[in-house]
Amino acid sequence: MGGGEVLISLDGVEKVFDVRRRVSLMRREKRQVRAVDGISFEVARGEMVGYIGPNGAGKSTTIKMLTGILTPSGGRLRVAGIDPARERMRLAHRIGVVFGQRTTLWWDLPLKDSYGLMRRMYRIPAERFARNMERCVEQLDLAELLDVPVRQLSLGQRMRGDIAAALLHDPDVLYLDEPTIGLDVVSKAKVRGFLRQLNGELGTTVLLTTHDLQDIEQLCERVMVIDHGRLMYDGPLRGLHTAGGVAESERTLVVDLERELPAISVPGARVVKVEGPRQWLAFPAGASAAPLVAAVAADYPLVDLSVREPDIEDVIARMYAGRG
Ligand SMILES: Nc1ncnc2c1ncn2[C@@H]1O[C@H](COP(=O)(O)OP(=O)(O)OP(=O)(O)O)[C@@H](O)[C@H]1O
Ligand SMILES: [Mg+2]
Repeated sequence: MGGGEVLISLDGVEKVFDVRRRVSLMRREKRQVRAVDGISFEVARGEMVGYIGPNGAGKSTTIKMLTGILTPSGGRLRVAGIDPARERMRLAHRIGVVFGQRTTLWWDLPLKDSYGLMRRMYRIPAERFARNMERCVEQLDLAELLDVPVRQLSLGQRMRGDIAAALLHDPDVLYLDEPTIGLDVVSKAKVRGFLRQLNGELGTTVLLTTHDLQDIEQLCERVMVIDHGRLMYDGPLRGLHTAGGVAESERTLVVDLERELPAISVPGARVVKVEGPRQWLAFPAGASAAPLVAAVAADYPLVDLSVREPDIEDVIARMYAGRG
């Protein structure tokens, strides 16, 4: 962390949900879910940290506590010196949030009208608003979209619109909860490029939740892994790979052959699984699949193939396996 100013700090933070479930006509069951179970960490100003883990791990719950939407059941939490649950409004001026799964924009309004409302809500001075609009419109490619009602935007366009909305008031901290979910490769690249620039040039502190390992690989030096509400790992991405027993992340070429054959042998890849006529070949995520596909097609009766991107769940699963 380099001893910089701490912007986010959690100390033994917990969130317990009381859930009532009707088990039969007459009987309701009361149950407690410990969504966040004693988490402690600090994030310094200017860091871009990945916050990852399997479904239901407690990531979104953590982010909701960091925005003040949810009140912790226990522990101590501060963002920019503010207790989010007590001073949500004051905190709102210091943070931006993007929930990939839903929009904060006004569904029926043209994009630019949403921004106008944000401007008034946050009392953003005209000059600053103009400057931030210009930057976001240019870097997120929004010019053509400003007059389009949000409901008519594609997912990738809407996401870029949401990211801009979260930044118009110059927050110190940006929380991103799955900002690339459902986006195509081009949109993902655009969003990643923008975030890199935001963090690198403006020094905005970013906490990023994602299931896409490439988001983390391309953006975050530090990752935190959470599972069952607990912090399982906090350190460099490289360390996570080592803990998972892999030197770097791999993509997988899934190959369908005409018939069952012995394991394919081609340079630059190794067979990790064979199931009937289907074989899985792992190769370095940074390498191109093209020469590999050509090599397989030249020597084997190829019917079909696809490439699988590495995902975080794989790496985490291997991390657990590696620990024994
Ligand atoms: N409002 C709520 N009431 C009851 N239980 C909840 C509530 N919100 C979350 N939970 C439960 O808390 C746990 C953590 O949920 P959370 O949404 O934080 O997970 P997540 O890590 O964001 O998962 P995902 O990757 O699927 O988004 C889950 O078991 C979930 O069912
Ligand atoms: Mg979530």
